[in-house]
Amino acid sequence: MDYKLTGLLLSEDALSERVREIGARIGRDYAGKELVVIGILKGAVVFLSDLIRAIPDTVDISLDFMAVSSYGDSTRTRGIVKIVKDLDGSIEDKDVLIVEDIVDTGLTLSYLIKLMKERRPRSVRVCALLDKEERREVRVDVDYRGFSIPDEFVVGYGLDYGGKWRHLPAIHIVTRE
Ligand code: IMP
Ligand code: MG
Repeated sequence: MDYKLTGLLLSEDALSERVREIGARIGRDYAGKELVVIGILKGAVVFLSDLIRAIPDTVDISLDFMAVSSYGDSTRTRGIVKIVKDLDGSIEDKDVLIVEDIVDTGLTLSYLIKLMKERRPRSVRVCALLDKEERREVRVDVDYRGFSIPDEFVVGYGLDYGGKWRHLPAIHIVTRE
């Protein structure tokens, strides 16, 4: 089976404009506060690196990362989330923002939110660049959402298929031939 890029979904300009808006909103919401930004590896790294530079210095940002795997390179998660790398630091009493590339069924994020809340942070919010709302199986409150997208498999700007295409600067649709 062969997979091909079959269409541009979000251009570099569309992404950077939206990222600037979200960064400004986070700046307003957390002005004068400390915020632990948690990037979910690997998909969120490109979005996260642009997003944090769009947050004004009125927010005192620190970074941490968590790597999760949903087993295999499938285009569909099965809801089994394995922590491949845990946070380096404690989030107890901290304001936390989880940054994820995409919410699909919602299983990954709902698991991560539950896990974070067990560590007694002061607050937990979620920022996801992309949201495939029609695929949702469990409810997830996305506080900062970049774009709602149709039920297509997408790559680029950090998102991959089988480890490929993360480095593309825009977001493209992948189709099986
Ligand atoms: P969920 O647990 O079903 O919400 O899946 C979330 C995870 O599935 C994301 O973090 C991605 O790693 C992956 N995923 C879902 N849809 C896509 C897509 O269209 N492109 C790339 N990865 C995706
Ligand atoms: Mg991911």
